[in-house]
Amino acid sequence: MAKYKIAWLSGDGIGKDVMDAAKIVLDKIKLDAEYFPGDVGWEFWRKEGNALPDRTIQLLKNTDCSLFGAITSKPKEEAEAELDPSLKGKGYVYFSPIVRLRQEFNLRTNLRPCKAYPGNPLNYRDDIDLVVFRENTEDLYAGVEFHPLPKEVMDVLVKNHPKMKRFEKSQLDDIAVSLRIITRKASQNIVKDAFEYAKKYKRKSVTVVEKPNVIRETSGLFIREARKIAGDYPEIKLYEANIDAMCMWLLKNPLDYDVLVTSNMFGDIISDLCAQLVGGLGFASSGNIGDDYAVFEPTHGSAPKYAGLYKVNPMAMLLAVKLMLDWLGETFKAVSLESAIAEVIKEGKVRTYDMGGSSSTLDVAGEVAKKL
Ligand code: NAI
Ligand code: MG
Repeated sequence: MAKYKIAWLSGDGIGKDVMDAAKIVLDKIKLDAEYFPGDVGWEFWRKEGNALPDRTIQLLKNTDCSLFGAITSKPKEEAEAELDPSLKGKGYVYFSPIVRLRQEFNLRTNLRPCKAYPGNPLNYRDDIDLVVFRENTEDLYAGVEFHPLPKEVMDVLVKNHPKMKRFEKSQLDDIAVSLRIITRKASQNIVKDAFEYAKKYKRKSVTVVEKPNVIRETSGLFIREARKIAGDYPEIKLYEANIDAMCMWLLKNPLDYDVLVTSNMFGDIISDLCAQLVGGLGFASSGNIGDDYAVFEPTHGSAPKYAGLYKVNPMAMLLAVKLMLDWLGETFKAVSLESAIAEVIKEGKVRTYDMGGSSSTLDVAGEVAKKL
């Protein structure tokens, strides 16, 4: 029996292209694993009204972790229009499988390393090495939203908060509310993960990115917990920055920062910004990590116009494989893979279109495999 069971979730569009690339590298590296393909994505929404069928959840429960390609998702009305006619009007609602996976398996930590590999023509600068820790389950993305605002909710808010007075006269249909929910526990967890990472990889600082001067209660709670936890790591510096200023500073002085930690929405924004500093979607990998399960993925989507053409850059996917190897404790394999990736980028002979080359997705994976 193989040492690891890994769910193989290709999903839609270029998800399959980059997963084929991942397989080339995993085979070369001889990871002692068995791979289990799982149904996920748009096809299953259309045919079954569920982009993440229960059988896939079951499959995942019998594996150690997942590799995920990409999925297509569309807004509510469009999604419903594409449902199989026999399912239309039966109350099926589209949910993003990746968001559901995060909730279902409590994948509370989103890890997004953003490293500029020397020689990548897409680097903003060649010496950037940032790691973003994004809380993955709550904040504005918890999905607690109202529109129209129920009368009872309006009444409770007006009764409990003086600032609600000026909205009191709004028509309930003219007002929408999304709750920013931040818990002490989740804040502690994500900050601890960031500090543990900093300790393990000998990083010098952790910067907590929030906006406590304006969003006093939620950002305030997050920052206060961060300060407490920082006390357990005297060798690592804690910096505090506001999200808006941080977007400027990251462009001006990206080398001043090391590990960043923040809540869900700010993390979503800032991790895309950081990704673009080091080459953009073709290089952005991520880990969705819980206490006993994890899903690793490139952060790009299904890029329908390139689906099946094997044109897109597999580096983001291969870097996601590297994160998976780290998480499995296969440190030697992880380091070897990263070195091989770095070498291929530096040599510059085999490159996909986004890097100015004309090689295919599989050529790039083959070249990385050759260096291993
Ligand atoms: P996208 O990330 O799929 O692609 C946008 C553009 O970026 C592509 O057209 C291509 O020019 C470039 N690109 C993306 N990946 C690349 C790669 N590996 N190498 C080179 N170039 C690359 O985003 P888009 O077009 O906004 O969304 C397409 C679909 O993907 C939508 O249905 C969207 O909802 C979904 N999506 C899924 C995500 C996921 O599975 N985690 C994340 C983002 C979007
Ligand atoms: Mg995003």
